[in-house]
Amino acid sequence: LNYLTPKSRLEVLDLLVTGLKRLEYRGYDSTGVAIDSPDSKNIVMVKRTGKVKVLEDAIQEHFTGGEYSEPVATHIGIAHTRWATHGEPCERNSHPQRSDEGNGFVVVHNGIITNYNDVKTFLRKRGYEFESETDTEVFAKLVHHLWKTHPTYSFRELVEQAILQLEGAFAVAVKSKHFPGECVAARRSSPLLVGIKTKTRLATDHIPILYGKDDKKQTSDQDTDSGKPQVLPRSDSTSEFMPLEEKEVEYFFASDASAVIEHTNRVIYLEDDDVAAVRDGTLSIHRLKKSLDDPHAREITTLKMEIQQIMKGNYDYFMQKEIFEQPDSVVNTMRGRVRFDGNAIVLGGIKDYIPEIKRCRRLMLIGCGTSYHSAVATRQLLEELTELPVMVELASDFLDRNTPIFRDDVCFFISQSGETADTLMALRYCKQRGALIVGITNTVGSSICRESHCGVHINAGPEIGVASTKAYTSQFISLVMFALVMSEDRLSLQQRRLEILQALSNLADQIRKVLKLDSKVQELAKDLYQHKSLLIMGRGYNFATCLEGALKVKELTYMHSEGIMAGELKHGPLALVDDSMPVLMIVLRDPVYVKCMNALQQVTSRKGCPVIICEEGDEETKAFSSRSLEIPRTVDCLQGILTVIPMQLLSYHIAVLRGCDVDCPRNLAKSVTVE
Ligand code: G6P
Repeated sequence: LNYLTPKSRLEVLDLLVTGLKRLEYRGYDSTGVAIDSPDSKNIVMVKRTGKVKVLEDAIQEHFTGGEYSEPVATHIGIAHTRWATHGEPCERNSHPQRSDEGNGFVVVHNGIITNYNDVKTFLRKRGYEFESETDTEVFAKLVHHLWKTHPTYSFRELVEQAILQLEGAFAVAVKSKHFPGECVAARRSSPLLVGIKTKTRLATDHIPILYGKDDKKQTSDQDTDSGKPQVLPRSDSTSEFMPLEEKEVEYFFASDASAVIEHTNRVIYLEDDDVAAVRDGTLSIHRLKKSLDDPHAREITTLKMEIQQIMKGNYDYFMQKEIFEQPDSVVNTMRGRVRFDGNAIVLGGIKDYIPEIKRCRRLMLIGCGTSYHSAVATRQLLEELTELPVMVELASDFLDRNTPIFRDDVCFFISQSGETADTLMALRYCKQRGALIVGITNTVGSSICRESHCGVHINAGPEIGVASTKAYTSQFISLVMFALVMSEDRLSLQQRRLEILQALSNLADQIRKVLKLDSKVQELAKDLYQHKSLLIMGRGYNFATCLEGALKVKELTYMHSEGIMAGELKHGPLALVDDSMPVLMIVLRDPVYVKCMNALQQVTSRKGCPVIICEEGDEETKAFSSRSLEIPRTVDCLQGILTVIPMQLLSYHIAVLRGCDVDCPRNLAKSVTVE
């Protein structure tokens, strides 16, 4: 929305498309945009299947008339890039979804409206016909229905009443030709923020929250048939609009800061059930119900993110850039926390809770995908240094099992984005049961971050490539630092701690050395990329690398790959091995070396010819294979950081050779905000 300097509709479209490009990693099945027609009486929409680039080309074809270059003082546009949940990726199912053929109300939505079938039935009975398979369309049509039946409602009230009828998760932004110059956005469980750009410094750091009365129970809609949403009466409008009355201001609603950072670093993270409305250049944030622990205002946060951090620079892909950033990102994770001279570690976001954590019954580490693997990677060290039982859980499975949780449990939620719905739901489940919640995230201000009691920001910097790389190594280090903090006063563990601290101080240089294997890994990729499958074997501290390596290969190359616990080889996977099955084995000089060698021999005696990842100069191990990748020697519990990097590089090169879209693998999204 532009009050700052007049912009043409073409400029608004450009701004929206650039924002979508920044968010593309969140989903890239189909895209769409809606802006006002030149006479501001209608809404024009363009939607396309595929990535934002396709939309960008379509926009250039569609908006050619000179009237679109006329500057206008105020303008609202909405745009969306989709990761399909309900309905195949196609134009019809792309967002914005609309209320009627006249585009009365148009909406973009992230999340899943779980009761959409009931609402659909209700609306169908009132003559609404649906054109898409999406859950989102019911939202647009419900707002339209409310507008027809309650003509005196404001735009914000219409959206509020609509969301009262909806169940599930959503972040929505709604635009209407009946309310030109206004935009309403709301969230429940899916992330949403407001970016604020002003010419001069903002006079306030807070936006007060406004409440409607919640004591009116009667419905004003007299329909009684089943499936009917209960339409509540309009909320108190006396509290309407006051807050941010800047004269010259642009507002941005977005699901992620990367979409707005090139315009402003001042943002408000909305909370569940917040409804934000912009009207006549004024932003207000509204809540329908007041709860005791609600703060009175939403804080305006200043982001530290820089635009360069979300640009590719000289790299071909974000993933490649992020792999090569790891010597720096691991240092950033430790910066200000690890004092190598005094062997001291301070985790500011968690230190006040350490005594409580030390008294706990057990530690639970919960996450999804790569974040889960960082828990697998550090579990053994946590067990060793904390001497506590450590459970490692996939968030979805943890919830499926209704896992018992106790007040004296300490639950870690590990998530790069801080928004993964499965992880967030598991967090809420544990919080309700009284456990202490520790967030390990890369995204300041994310839902997991805000809903945790304490935590560690991994400070890896924005990660854009859908396949996680630098976030993994930084999560790994954050958990290692936590283990070191927990063992600070254990005399018997001091030698071990020193050994780990020493290794941490050398880590960045060692990562640089591993990255020099790039061309060798590329050669290996040339041998492997036409195969159908790749088995990755290891055990002990390197089992997590096998899981993570196999996940990277699957995500990026669409090849089958399996991370195999070498101890389990003889219990089944060995049947897959023959002279044509590609196998990669991690065999390092650690306490499981002899057992890994057993597995290696089991493979070679079945005519398998594994590629070996071993320690620099380990000629004896290298002799078992014609191909090997040598990594520098480090302490056992940190090996996983050095062994995962060749796996990241390998999956990257195989993906390039197979012609896959490295940063946007098919069917995936970086942060999955639906269960
Ligand atoms: C998605 C991504 C994975 C990621 C997982 C967890 O599935 O495709 O790469 O590991 O979510 O994401 P989080 O943001 O919670 O770490």
